[in-house]
Amino acid sequence: MNILNLYAGLGGNRKLWEGHEITSVEYDPHILEAYRTLYPHDDAFLWDAHDYLREKYYLFDFIWSSPPCQSHGQYRYNVGVRAKRYEPLIKPTAVLGRHYFWANFDIPYVKCNKSSIRDKNKISDFDLDISGAKIKNKRQALRNMVDPELGKYILDCSEVWNY
Ligand SMILES: C[S@@+](CC[C@H](N)C(=O)[O-])C[C@H]1O[C@@H](n2cnc3c(N)ncnc32)[C@H](O)[C@@H]1O
Repeated sequence: MNILNLYAGLGGNRKLWEGHEITSVEYDPHILEAYRTLYPHDDAFLWDAHDYLREKYYLFDFIWSSPPCQSHGQYRYNVGVRAKRYEPLIKPTAVLGRHYFWANFDIPYVKCNKSSIRDKNKISDFDLDISGAKIKNKRQALRNMVDPELGKYILDCSEVWNY
């Protein structure tokens, strides 16, 4: 498939996507540089994700978009989400682990691995070496990553739906 991966970050969701043509968009040049090192065969653009989507959406079979989510900050997580889980404006079609998903295909519920990124606090807790990257907040970029297994699961769900 031709896949558009918006808000690419360090490519957590994309890590286990094998055998696809992948185009990624990220607007932080240092994060993009690290992404390109990790995934040299992807087309990776320094671009605004909204603009890219508006102009090129019709070229792709599958589009993943993971914009920054304020609720991932520790404060908002504890107060806004954990203590008083807020309702999103548009009801998600699936809730898996710490993620909400809105999709136009079925995503059956699966229990997610609890040893999540939330428990990882130090850069050394992650098994990804970005020590050479110039990213300003490396810990945040690492904590932003979607669990690769979850990214693969969602893509697999979309493929089932296609047949
Ligand atoms: C939640 S993180 C994405 C995590 C990624 N999906 C992963 O699994 O590793 C969001 C990313 O979007 C980038 N970003 C924020 N606003 C953007 C925009 N308007 N256009 C492109 N990228 C943007 C941030 O720099 C950040 O790397």
